Amino acid sequence: EYKYHLEPKEVDFSSDGPFGRFDDAQLQRGYQVYREVCAACHGLQYVAFRNLEEIGYTPEQVKSLAANEWEVPTIDPELGEETTRAAIPSDTFPNPYPNAIAARAANNNAYPPDLSLIVKAREGGAPYIYSLLTGYQEPSKKLLAEFPSAAPGTGLYHNPYFANLNIAMPPPITSDGQVTYGEGAPEATVEQMAKDVTAFLIWTAEPRMESRKRAGIAILIFLSIATLLAFLAYRNVWAEAK
Ligand code: HEM
Repeated sequence: EYKYHLEPKEVDFSSDGPFGRFDDAQLQRGYQVYREVCAACHGLQYVAFRNLEEIGYTPEQVKSLAANEWEVPTIDPELGEETTRAAIPSDTFPNPYPNAIAARAANNNAYPPDLSLIVKAREGGAPYIYSLLTGYQEPSKKLLAEFPSAAPGTGLYHNPYFANLNIAMPPPITSDGQVTYGEGAPEATVEQMAKDVTAFLIWTAEPRMESRKRAGIAILIFLSIATLLAFLAYRNVWAEAK
């Protein structure tokens, strides 16, 4: 019985549909939310800092944000010990934990998955991610009356969009203005920040989406012309047959 597990909310993204395009300003806000909030627990192993050039940062901006905002693990060449260094554009977004045991130890034994491909990996895609981020709530009285053991245990948080109903991720986006957006950005409401970071994760999961869709449109136009020509040729070839 699934009545306590909710389907994702209806939410639109500029990248939806056959003509969908990424909104670079939104992706940059989403990057900011990822960096300031999600990166404390989640990595993006398939995204390199220099990929941020594709969402509108200049190579100079990428270089300085990598160096100033990120540290990546490395081995000290003299001591042979694990340490960190400032990131460079060709590094990928690091996992915040040294290993899975440390990651689980910090998160009530749950593993915060890498987010690079999460939009593709989860049923429900982007609307699911958005719904999860905005879906924390108290368990309903009805649920608790019917299934008293569904109350979230220690270190778990009720979220009816998560298949288990209780998730080990604390609500990451909790208050309006949690991230300070720059000039000209929409107001940083909880919903807006959740939407922006979800848009960013759509991009990390499929950075070539725009060219894929462009190719699809070009192919459809080509095929319609080719079909028309084939039809005219057929009529021409058979024109004199009785
Ligand atoms: C799981 C996104 C911040 C800890 C997840 C999942 C997503 C996600 C999509 C997978 C849910 C599923 O399996 O269906 C995000 C985003 C964040 C964020 C977009 C920032 C806005 C955080 C933070 C922490 C955290 C700050 C740590 C304090 C976890 C943990 C899990 C998880 C432990 C595994 C939960 C479980 O399996 O019960 N997160 N997260 N996340 N996240 Fe986050």
